[in-house]
Amino acid sequence: MSGIYRSRVAGTGSYLPEGVITNFDIEKMVETNNQWIIERTGIERRHKAAPHEACSDLCYEASIKALKDAGLTAQDLDLIIVSTVSGDQVMPSTACVLQHRLGARHIMAFDLSAACSGFVYGLSVADQFIRTGMYKNILVVGGEVLHRLVNYKDRETCILFGDAAGAWIVSRAEANDPNTIMSSHLHADGGLGDLFVLPGGGSRMPFSQEVLDSGNHYVKMKGREIFKNAVRTLTQCCHEALAANNVKSHEVDWLVPHQANVRILESVAEYFEFPKEKVIFSLQETGNTSAASIPVAFDLAVQEKKIQRGQLILLAAFGAGLTSGSVLLRF
Ligand code: ACO
Repeated sequence: MSGIYRSRVAGTGSYLPEGVITNFDIEKMVETNNQWIIERTGIERRHKAAPHEACSDLCYEASIKALKDAGLTAQDLDLIIVSTVSGDQVMPSTACVLQHRLGARHIMAFDLSAACSGFVYGLSVADQFIRTGMYKNILVVGGEVLHRLVNYKDRETCILFGDAAGAWIVSRAEANDPNTIMSSHLHADGGLGDLFVLPGGGSRMPFSQEVLDSGNHYVKMKGREIFKNAVRTLTQCCHEALAANNVKSHEVDWLVPHQANVRILESVAEYFEFPKEKVIFSLQETGNTSAASIPVAFDLAVQEKKIQRGQLILLAAFGAGLTSGSVLLRF
């Protein structure tokens, strides 16, 4: 990938709201049980935003931590990207709400919609702005309040999703810095868009009493088909990132995949011929948090001192769209 400059991950932060929904809580809502959920998904609990918290509130908490980690203030930021499918409202964007709350300058701020691939999409966009020399410090946030988009009468979806935010500061690297974002590869296959949708509330199906009565304001998912596509797509993304950089899989220290389902991630590790011990798993604690999933899993692993500076990290994502992508970086 060309460009005058390279970008580096200057700081990371994450926020999990205090509230928790355990599998035992879900047992009381739909016909399911803790053992089934753990065996079929690996998820034990997911976090839940408090009634007063919206997406920008979670993003704010994660961003403050990332700024502190980078040794910067909001005044240093040149661009804010918020990847989300559960923003505060349709407009203004959650990124604009966040910009004001952080007290940033009147810089460019926008939301990015690529579902669970949103964070790698956001990183790639940030990387391009750094490579051209346009900006120096960019805040990329993945934030979701998914529990408000889920029907707690639908046992296939309500077991999966949780709320969280993860933030990175992406900054211009010094010329001799070996720790940089090396590549990003992004894809979309709109032909598979019907596998995971939230039909109501847009211009095709505007809100009405009928939408509410039919539950079309909740996510709808074809779980089994997503599962198959996710394994295939994530595996392809991993191979693509390594081939583009002429890197062998044993050189990668950690794979940080989108946290969808433990069985999806185990299958990817198998097809990618990558040791499971080097895959970051956080979904037992968080569930699937869509755009927040990768930065949260990453930040938790940094806090646990698993991921360390200088290591080679592969991020791989897939999500509604169907979107997918990878980022290879030296942290
Ligand atoms: N508890 C108990 N039984 C259940 C539950 C539940 N919560 N959910 C489904 N079942 C039943 C089904 O009804 C089915 O019963 P049947 O055989 O009598 O019809 C049986 O379990 C098996 O159903 P499957 O769909 O084959 O179950 P599967 O093993 O595929 O697991 C799951 C379902 C967990 C949804 C899985 O398909 C999955 O994780 N898919 C990917 C989902 C995903 O990642 N979505 C988001 C992707 S995009 C993004 O991340 C934004």
